[in-house]
Amino acid sequence: MRARIRGYLPEDFSGTEYQSSSDNFHCSELPVFDCEVRDARPDLDSLSPQQMLERSGFTLLTGSRVNETHPDFRDLAFADAYAAVHSLFPEQRFELFANPQYITVRRSGEGEVVPCLHSDYSLSAQEYWRTLACFTSAANADDWKRDFARPDVRSYRVFNVWRILQSDYDDFMPLGLIRRSSVQPEDIVLGREDLPGSPDGQASTFLRLRHKPNHDWVYFPRMQDHEMIVFQSFALEKGGDSPAWPGCFHAAIDNSSSTFTKPSRVSCEYRIGVYLSD
Ligand SMILES: [Fe+2]
Repeated sequence: MRARIRGYLPEDFSGTEYQSSSDNFHCSELPVFDCEVRDARPDLDSLSPQQMLERSGFTLLTGSRVNETHPDFRDLAFADAYAAVHSLFPEQRFELFANPQYITVRRSGEGEVVPCLHSDYSLSAQEYWRTLACFTSAANADDWKRDFARPDVRSYRVFNVWRILQSDYDDFMPLGLIRRSSVQPEDIVLGREDLPGSPDGQASTFLRLRHKPNHDWVYFPRMQDHEMIVFQSFALEKGGDSPAWPGCFHAAIDNSSSTFTKPSRVSCEYRIGVYLSD
């Protein structure tokens, strides 16, 4: 399908950093590009979910049916997200870091989706600690810092697990993702974000992209209430010159020219961290 995508920097943007003059969720000052967004489901005909994650930076996994009307939907969605990420690391030493209370629920009809193209990021362990403290809690951030400092831990990865919480809906502003292999390092620009309540007074960062016509945009049409999109957020390595790795670029893509008659979509996200050990 064709969809309008906001948040790209122009291809000839020459800076190394960009701070939005409006806000980082909507970045209404930036141009809109009309892009082809293809169905990612046929890719799974020839790839296992793990292979798709490795090659594309995202995959589709299944769990139980979860509906927002269930009183325990948060715990059910968390259990599924935890099991899904767990299943991706069968042969490595790893430990998951996540907390069921930190769920994000978004109602597309109420404008809670994020139309501005981005990838989550942290320049350093200190920055990730700061961001966790602001968006979760100081205690949660300190727990993370303590475990990341353990000598057996060599790296940390974050996954975003995104799912629908209803069986029948109109897919207004669906989640669009760019296949990782179609993004080149020179396309990436650092975004600055002020962080109200920052525990050390410093800001945080995320990643933006210069527009390139060959970015491979996909989405998963007809998401069902037992399916989860798992996509890579950023990763941190201990030591080295470039300790942080970009995640998967994504945005709520604008398909508002379609006709909608059903209830608007309710989705939720859990972020699940993985400590990898030697
Ligand atoms: Fe995001």
